[in-house]
This record gives sequence, C-alpha cells and structure tokens, in this order.
Amino acid sequence: MRLTAQKSTLRQVKADAVTVFIREDKKLFQQDIAYLRKILGKRIDTIISLENFKGKVAEVLSILTEKKLTAPRLYLAGLGEEKKLSHESYRRASAAVARQAQASRIKHLAFNLPAFGQTETGKISHAIAEGAYLSLYKFDKYQTKKKDEQSRITEITIFDPAESTVKDVKKELNDVRIICEATTLARDLANAPACEIYPETLADTAKKSAEQYGYNITIWDKKKIEREEFGGLLAVNAGSTKPPRFIILEHNSNKKDLDTIVLVGKGVTFDSGGISIKPSSGMAEMKMDMSGAAAVIGTMEAAVRLKLPVHLVGLIPATENLPSGSAMKPGDIIKHYGGKTSEVDNTDAEGRLILADALAYAATYKPKAVIDLATLTGACVVALGMHATGMMGNDEELMAKLKTAGDKTFERVWQLPLFDEYEKQIKSDIADVKNVGGKWAGAITAGFFLKKFIGDYKWVHLDIAGTAMLEEQHPYAPKGGSGVGVRLLVEFLKNWK
Ligand code: BES
Ligand code: MN
Ligand code: ZN
Repeated sequence: MRLTAQKSTLRQVKADAVTVFIREDKKLFQQDIAYLRKILGKRIDTIISLENFKGKVAEVLSILTEKKLTAPRLYLAGLGEEKKLSHESYRRASAAVARQAQASRIKHLAFNLPAFGQTETGKISHAIAEGAYLSLYKFDKYQTKKKDEQSRITEITIFDPAESTVKDVKKELNDVRIICEATTLARDLANAPACEIYPETLADTAKKSAEQYGYNITIWDKKKIEREEFGGLLAVNAGSTKPPRFIILEHNSNKKDLDTIVLVGKGVTFDSGGISIKPSSGMAEMKMDMSGAAAVIGTMEAAVRLKLPVHLVGLIPATENLPSGSAMKPGDIIKHYGGKTSEVDNTDAEGRLILADALAYAATYKPKAVIDLATLTGACVVALGMHATGMMGNDEELMAKLKTAGDKTFERVWQLPLFDEYEKQIKSDIADVKNVGGKWAGAITAGFFLKKFIGDYKWVHLDIAGTAMLEEQHPYAPKGGSGVGVRLLVEFLKNWK
C-alpha cells in the first residue's frame, strides 16, 4: 500500500475517489458542504436528504461526481459532533470510507485534509492514513482462490492546496507507513497457525526483520537456555517436541549514553494448557498466545526504522505449552533464572513461568524501564473485555506515560491494583511462590507473580489477553489478531525523554 501526499484542490485531485470530512452539528454540516455545493450544485442537497446522511462518526455517503471533479467518485465521511471530535473520529471515518471504497473496487483513494484541522495537520493526517491503512488488513494468505480475485486499494493519498502543508503531511505519512507495517507484522504473526509459527520460526521471522532493518538479534537455542538456567522456559517446553527459543533484539546497542528500555513479550506459540489441559472449544484461539512477542518484534522494527533515540532491548521467551509423557506436571517445582523457585499448581498458568525468567534476566541490562506484554489471563478479559489492556506496575509515573500513549493511539490501558494484600493468594508452602492464586482477581495475582521476579527497575505489566485477539470486527481491524501494543509502545517511545 502506498501512502502519498498531493498538492491539489478538491477539483483536480488525481484519484479514483476523493473523500471530504463532514461534521454532524447542523451549522458545521452546512459549512462543510458549502464548497461541495458550489461545485456540484443543488444535487448534493437532494442526495444528502434522500440518503438521510447526518455526518455521524464513520457514516459514509457515496456520490458520483459526473465530471465536476477529476475524481469520478466523492465520499462524504461523517466525523460526528464537534465536541466529541478526536483523532479516533478520523481513524474511524477514514476506515469506513476505505472499506467501502475497496468493496467498490477503487484502487486509489484520496482524502481532503479538512480546513478546520489546520492547526494539527500532521496528527490529523496521521490518524486519517492510519485508520484507512489498518482497516484494509486481511489475513488471506491461506485462501488460495479469494486472494487473486480480490480488488485491493493500492494507494491512499492525502491532499491539500498548500505546499508547506503537503510537506508536513509527507513526513507524517512516512511514520504512518512504518507503524502500520509493524502492526501488520504483529497481526500476521498472531493470526498465523501454530503449525507455521512455533519458537524456531518465530525466531526466524525476527531474524529476517533484524537483517532487513539492521538491528541486533541473538537467538538462544535449547542448550544455551539450559546453560543460562531458564527453568521456567524449560519446564513449559518439556511437553513439546519443538525446542524453545529465547530471542534477544537490540536497537542502538552501541550507543551507551541512551536510556535503556526493555520490552518483554510472552511467546507461547500454542497454549493447550499442558497437563491441565484446556477445553477443546476455543482452544484454536490459543495460536495467538504469542501476541506479546509479536508486539515486541513489531515495536522493535518500527523503533529502528523511525530511528528512535533509545537503547531498546526486546526479550522473547518462546515455547509451546503441550501435554505429553515428558510434560511439566502440577506439583512440580521450578528453579527460575536468578534462583527463585515456583510451585506449579496449574500447568495452564504457563505464561508467568516463562516471563519470570525473562523479567529476572532483564535486570542484567540495568534498564530505565521494563514493560512486559502478555496474553496472560482470562480473568483480565472478564474484567475489561476487549476495550482496554490491563495494566499493573510499580511506578505510577511510568504507568501515567503509558496511559497517555494509550489514550492518544486508542490502544487504551486501564490500571489494576497490586495491593500487598493479594500476595497471600500466591503463597506456596514449599516454594517461593505458587503459579496460581485461586478464584478471585486472577489478572492481579498473575501480575503479582511477575512482580516477584522483577529486578530493581521500574516496571509495567500489560495483560493483552482481551485486546490482542478480536472476536468481532473493530472499526479499523478485522476479526483476529489486532497487533495491539505496537502503536501504543511506539507512541510511548517517541515521547520518552
Ligand atoms: N493464554 C492464557 C490466557 C488467555 C485466555 C489469553 C483467554 C487469551 C484469552 C493463559 O496462559 C492461561 O491459560 N491462563 C489461565 C490461568 C489460570 C490457570 C490461573 C486462565 O486465564 O484461565
Ligand atoms: Mn495457559
Ligand atoms: Zn497462555
């Protein structure tokens, strides 16, 4: 997909269709269509009233331009009421237009940068392009026929008559392309079946990205993981015939003066539950239990391409969680990296076991901040559904920064408490900690388990169990892997000082 900026007026823009944004408030609505009325005449009023177009968020009206514009088709895209107007309104509006345009076999779609957004040209063009780009994602590589038959939009253009604005837009669109490609990578990884993406191929994918964009990668095989005594990763892997991997990604490794930030991603490429096996209905969804890892790889790739001035480290413990004669069993005790022990009460609480090693290892980088992303608990989905990622941590300031980034990108996070009182739920009689905390507050007791293994650093845990895999279509993502975390973390890292 090409993202381009054009210096043009509405009349002259070269595209198969042009989009004009319309606000819902009566006065503003009239104001926004006044210019269109000049070009298209009263016909526009007739169509608007016939189609009952109100300008609500993501409402779309398609109009044939009958040679009054260079582009043969015009879309009106509703933005909703002015007082509720946000970047999210633009994302949703452009997404709705892009989907409809693609269904109408349009190849080149243009958007008019609205005059009323001129104070925020960059950010608004960012939102418009992002919404359109992400809405067109499709995981269709396994649909042998459909793929070729489909007509796809190949170019999205944002236009404005002012040269200087076009220059700003161009710069912004370069960022958008990088961020959307990284989100696409994360979605592809989550959607890929477990027969395609398992620890070795997950590592291969990261390696390809590292080679393409020039960042460091180190991949530990099982022998090295044994030598480093990553007991959690090895225990979870014990039931699988596929060997584990520990993947280390690094951007700006030679720039000693930059702040070090470590991202840790849960990379369970398939979670059957192990001996504490899951019910078969819905188990297929557990191919996406490496969405945290996917977000880390996507974020790393984007950070490198955007040349973000941080020393960024990505740590990914990768394994399957399967039952077998050699599998880890309930009652087992694990010695993690760093020496702490955990009692396995339920082999389905495996994510925390592999993250424990990685979080303990993260301390060796002496980081300014550590953020882990994991599809960790069903309890988090019960608490927050699909509309917010669960956030826990030990530093309010760091969490506030993530909250801000979440609001801006609409990858929203919501804090859950790590009160000391929860700790006794994960007390073990025979080890340092137990891997499950009973019936209540499952997202929090999982967070508390992780807290036991962190080093002396500022830390945030993001439970993306509800946000990583969409059960139904989202305004700018189809059902399936959402790529959540990439836009959030890139925004967070862009603002890191
Ligand atoms: N990967 C799952 C969590 C999950 C559930 C992610 C639903 C996405 C959607 C995790 O490994 C798991 O199985 N957690 C258990 C923990 C329990 C055994 C304490 C859970 O949530 O049921
Ligand atoms: Mn599990
Ligand atoms: Zn899991």
